Amino acid sequence: MSPRLRHLTTLENLPRDTIERLLDRAEALRDACAHGTRKLSVLAGRTVLNLFFEPSTRTRTSFELAARRLGADVVNFDIGFSSTSKGEELFDTLHTLEAMHLDAIIVRHKQSGTPDELVGHAMSGVSVINAGDGNRAHPTQGLLDVLTIRQHRPDFENLIVVICGDIKHSRVARSDIHALTALGTKEIRVCGPSTLMPSAEEFPKVHYVENFDEAIRGADAVITLRLQKERMAAIDLPDEAAYFSHYGLDQRRLALAAKGCLVMHPGPINRGIEIASDVADGAQSRILEQVGNGVFVRMAVLNELLAR
Ligand code: NCD
Repeated sequence: MSPRLRHLTTLENLPRDTIERLLDRAEALRDACAHGTRKLSVLAGRTVLNLFFEPSTRTRTSFELAARRLGADVVNFDIGFSSTSKGEELFDTLHTLEAMHLDAIIVRHKQSGTPDELVGHAMSGVSVINAGDGNRAHPTQGLLDVLTIRQHRPDFENLIVVICGDIKHSRVARSDIHALTALGTKEIRVCGPSTLMPSAEEFPKVHYVENFDEAIRGADAVITLRLQKERMAAIDLPDEAAYFSHYGLDQRRLALAAKGCLVMHPGPINRGIEIASDVADGAQSRILEQVGNGVFVRMAVLNELLAR
């Protein structure tokens, strides 16, 4: 059995059994807390801090709910009112917060690599969880995405999964690819304009199919992504109407996929840009299941890192 994790900053190179253990635990905790209606006490007396330097709706709320459902105390560090806006160094902030005795820091930052820097500088036994760093990794999103797929299609070795959109700037795509690869997915396809693709060397086993009609043919799951304009150079910015006609997921394209293809999106969604409203709200959409699974996956990660 792979060793217990102390931090979670990326899914890259995590063994399959670690990922499966976290997914299994997410489902066990979901049942133990009766889908959130019963509070557990596994993490009673533990304190976790949400340290978000970038906006977040789903991730921050679901980490907070996850910690509370396990009986932990949660502190939300509001960057807008903190000393970081007065120019306090990140590591001074870390040491100040550590002096208050925290068990875990959940960090989101626009700079790739920040969570690992915090791991390197932490003085106490604090655990660091990456809630999204730049375009590099968003490990709990990767886990909740594969959990959502597994609940419908546990046979990863038979699955074709398509990730469509702005892969280059997407930490979600990177963590999804790492998790899907670890679970032995038959084929991973990425699709989108060539300006929004990562380098071919980054993911040598992933297939790049530029044409969405071709990419989606026979797919068992399709993950659509937002255009992450905040991380784009002006030159990369596609025209939104043209983008939808080439890369928007609509009913016509969904009909080219395998029967029952799962429709996914990490949110926030832009209706009419990367996905049509009737597909986002349609019978094949798993988008709200993803949100629900996010809480259970985050409970599993907190439990892995912090339970005594
Ligand atoms: C994503 C993120 O912030 O990386 N959202 C999320 O966590 N659910 C994806 C995005 O912002 O497009």
